[in-house]
Order: sequence, then structure tokens, then C-alpha cells
Amino acid sequence: MKTSARPEIGACLDHLCIDSPEPQRLALFFQRIYDMHVSQLAGGLVLCEAPGRRVLIGAGVPNQVSFFGYALPDQAALERYRSGALARGAEAITSPSPLFGPDAFAVRDPDGRTVVFGVRAPEAPVAEALPGRLQHVVFRSTDLDTLVEFYSRQMGFLVSDRVQDEAGVLRACFLRTDVEHHSLALFRSPESRLDHFSFETTDWEHIRRWADDFSVKRMPIFWGVGRHGPGNDLFFMVKDPDDNLVEVSAEIEQCAADRSMGIWPHEQRTLNVWGNAIMRS
Ligand SMILES: [Fe+2]
Repeated sequence: MKTSARPEIGACLDHLCIDSPEPQRLALFFQRIYDMHVSQLAGGLVLCEAPGRRVLIGAGVPNQVSFFGYALPDQAALERYRSGALARGAEAITSPSPLFGPDAFAVRDPDGRTVVFGVRAPEAPVAEALPGRLQHVVFRSTDLDTLVEFYSRQMGFLVSDRVQDEAGVLRACFLRTDVEHHSLALFRSPESRLDHFSFETTDWEHIRRWADDFSVKRMPIFWGVGRHGPGNDLFFMVKDPDDNLVEVSAEIEQCAADRSMGIWPHEQRTLNVWGNAIMRS
């Protein structure tokens, strides 16, 4: 059977490393709320993991991600991607991530965080939990245009949708690295920081099961349940102890290879077609 060529780089979000003034408190949150197993790694990082989701926590100021990792399917794909990125002007630095092998490489983005590319190591067996794989991460930036330029032109991420105001100013941008609508989104904001990351679950039924589970754990929903315009994903969000938003989502759009870029108006309905939204600018 003939397979059509895909325009994306063919990578998916694998993990992120969140800075926290109280790493152990944050790790206990992920253990209790997201049923993640917690272990201490060499170098002072804490690893929280459940099937499909891995989050590292390091000591630092809150609401920042020191690095985050995208996985390519194999060494050959990683090497092709590295060559392309270097040819487009990327400056490779040593990977800081303990979750990728020695062939991984990293690049510093214009907001000062490090994005790592590697090959996903086989997951160690961890206890079953409600399904929710780490699928996308979202940052707020005071210099959105520079950041979008970096990820799209230099790193080869593909813009799925732009959100623009009436003057044509870019307010948010959704970028994909594989068939899924976005694995990275960027919002204009007065502050550069982590906005949220998402655990994508299997379907609507599991959105309900997560929400019921949170209810038992007395973890109130902060925003949602709703459906995003760009990406069409069902979602709700809670807040972690450091005031980061953490999302559970489902049904994210699977993009056709020839999908053209969309443009959405800067209004609440774009971010939640069912109702109100958190406007970052
Ligand atoms: Fe999201």
C-alpha cells in the first residue's frame, strides 16, 4: 500500500523538566493526582512516571521548564532531523536530559529554555493508571513572534493554526511535529513562563473518569470542561501547587498531510467553543 509523505518532522513530545521551589511537594502532587510513580535520579532531579507520561522536576524558580524533550522514532530519523536543523542554522548543545541516550542533542530557544531531541528509551514497567499520555506543552512569551519563527523556521515545526487579533497581530500559535494538531503551542503574554501541558486520554469516557477520580481526591477543576477551537480537543485543567495548569484532553485533531494553516480570531470562543476562556493577552 502506498503511504503518503508527511510534512512534519515526525517527533512527539516525550517529557519535560519543570523547575520548582519545592520539587518534593510537586512530585507528591503528581503521585497523588496523576497516579505517577516517583523516583529520585542522580543529579537531584525527581522523575514522575506512569504509562505514557514522564515529568521531571528540578529545583528552581516556579513556572519555568528548564528543558523538554521530543522523541524521534529511531536513530536514523534523529540523525536526519539533526542534519536538517543544523543546516537551517540551529546551534546544537549537549542534551541535559537523563531520559534520552548519548545521541540526543539540544538547542536553546530564544526564551532561554532548552529543547532536546532524542530517541525514546523503552519504558520501564510502571503500575497501571488511568490513560493519559504527555501530548503537548504550552508556553507564554513576551516575544511570541521570535519564538514562533525559531520553532517553525529553524526547528521545522509546522504551524497548524494561528490566532490573530483584529490588527493582524499574532496572539497564539499552535505547532505540530507529527499528525496531531499541536505538540507545542505558544501564547503572547506579559510574562514568559510555562502555561500548561496536557495528558491526552483515550476518549470522552475517560475525561469523565479522570474528573470523577479528581473529585474523589478533592482536586477541583480550574477551567473546563470545554472544547478548544484550534485542535478541537476536549479538555479540562487543574492547577498544581506551583500555579502551573495541567490539562487532561482527548480527541485532538489528526491532521491530513495536506492540511492548510488556519487563522482564528482572538476571542474567548476560539480557546473554548463551549464557553469562557483564560485569555493570556
Ligand atoms: Fe492544551
